Amino acid sequence: MSSKPVQESEEHLDAAAPSPNDYIAAAPRISVQAFCESEDAASAVRAAGEDRRLSKAHLTVKMGGMATAIETYHNAPTPNVILLESDGSGDILGGLDDLASVCDPGTRVIVIGNERDDVPYRELVRRGVNDYVVGPVSTIDVVRSICSLFSASEAITVGRVIAVVGAKGGVGASTVAHNVAWAIARNLKLDSVVIDLDLAFGTASLDYNQDPAQGIANAVFQPERPDSAFIDRLLAKCTDHLSLLAAPATLDRVYDFGANAFDAIFDTMRMTTPCIVLDIPHQWSAWTRRAMEGADDILIVAEPDLANLRNAKNILNVLKASRPNDRAPLYCLNQVGLPRRPEISKSSFAKTLESQPVAAIPFDSRLFGTAANNGQMIAEISKNHRTSRLFLEVAQKLTGLGETRKRSSSLLAPLMRKLGSKSA
Ligand SMILES: Nc1ncnc2c1ncn2[C@@H]1O[C@H](COP(=O)(O)OP(=O)(O)OP(=O)(O)O)[C@@H](O)[C@H]1O
Ligand SMILES: [Mg+2]
Repeated sequence: MSSKPVQESEEHLDAAAPSPNDYIAAAPRISVQAFCESEDAASAVRAAGEDRRLSKAHLTVKMGGMATAIETYHNAPTPNVILLESDGSGDILGGLDDLASVCDPGTRVIVIGNERDDVPYRELVRRGVNDYVVGPVSTIDVVRSICSLFSASEAITVGRVIAVVGAKGGVGASTVAHNVAWAIARNLKLDSVVIDLDLAFGTASLDYNQDPAQGIANAVFQPERPDSAFIDRLLAKCTDHLSLLAAPATLDRVYDFGANAFDAIFDTMRMTTPCIVLDIPHQWSAWTRRAMEGADDILIVAEPDLANLRNAKNILNVLKASRPNDRAPLYCLNQVGLPRRPEISKSSFAKTLESQPVAAIPFDSRLFGTAANNGQMIAEISKNHRTSRLFLEVAQKLTGLGETRKRSSSLLAPLMRKLGSKSA
């Protein structure tokens, strides 16, 4: 056990509108052993082990709390993280002292406390407890507690990944991805990188009027794991805060990838880039599915017709099921109001998809055509155009930045509550 300070756990915010600080970085390849007292905590911990952010971690759960933990480590090496649930009846401090005598120095300890625990908070800190979470805990509490032990200690940027995908081909997913990324960088001042994952036909370099010699292909086809310096050299700078990892858009080779082909690139970029926007081509393959499942947020772009509605529903269902602890994917309608086209209404989309679109972007062939042919963003053509404001709104809803947020109490509230209830 080390004597690192206990971390202040974050306020649990409305799942529909995450705080910019509420993003949880995936944990590295670590071992976690949990010793629970209640079946509820045990199932929360088991479910946490299934979460995408703990997919590299090896997590086991045993019952019996502190007593079983001490007994176990008399004869076995300790893991990277021990998670202990207290049922409020035992002597936590005595137990932690005993555990310390059998624990390796590098092991981190999380205590899931009980309201009946009568333990001064500072005594837990003194015994090297790294995090104390008052039970009953939810799955996401456990995920956050474990992951934060690692992201905070390494002081790295925790970049968030936003995946943008079309419900059908040609609906304008790339156009939306590029304009939203531009708003995130320009208006919200978040350093961002767009990765054009449509290697054969991607248009990001045309849309941003760039002529990059290198890009994503150089990273994905090189045999070694790419480091930050290597990826930096592949980026084309578009604006102060926006860079592009461009697609080659050449057909001299084919672009079939395994599910994990981009993992190392995304992981490396997350360490230096606060916001990574993935322009995902409209296809359903192992690697596109994985890119969506691994993203922090997902935006589905749909035109208002039946095939888009069906496909959006299918994408939403499959991603909601595989990401039970994440905010549901967001969607926006695009090319709304194409003259003479019968369309499915916004309210029918909302009813079938069980959520409102984050925007309904009008069809405007002159505006979008001019932007595409000039290599400009919509906001560069007309900053105050209604469509430019829509892209900014989508950027705000995706990042949680720049929106007026309601906070139930002050930032220090969770810490004050803990200190208040735990101090002798
Ligand atoms: N709201 C809009 N009004 C008019 N034209 C639009 C609108 N949005 C996008 N477009 C145009 O639609 C075309 C297709 O856009 P885009 O390449 O972004 O689609 P996509 O969904 O990424 O296609 P792909 O399936 O090839 O990846 C482009 O010419 C773009 O300028
Ligand atoms: Mg595209």
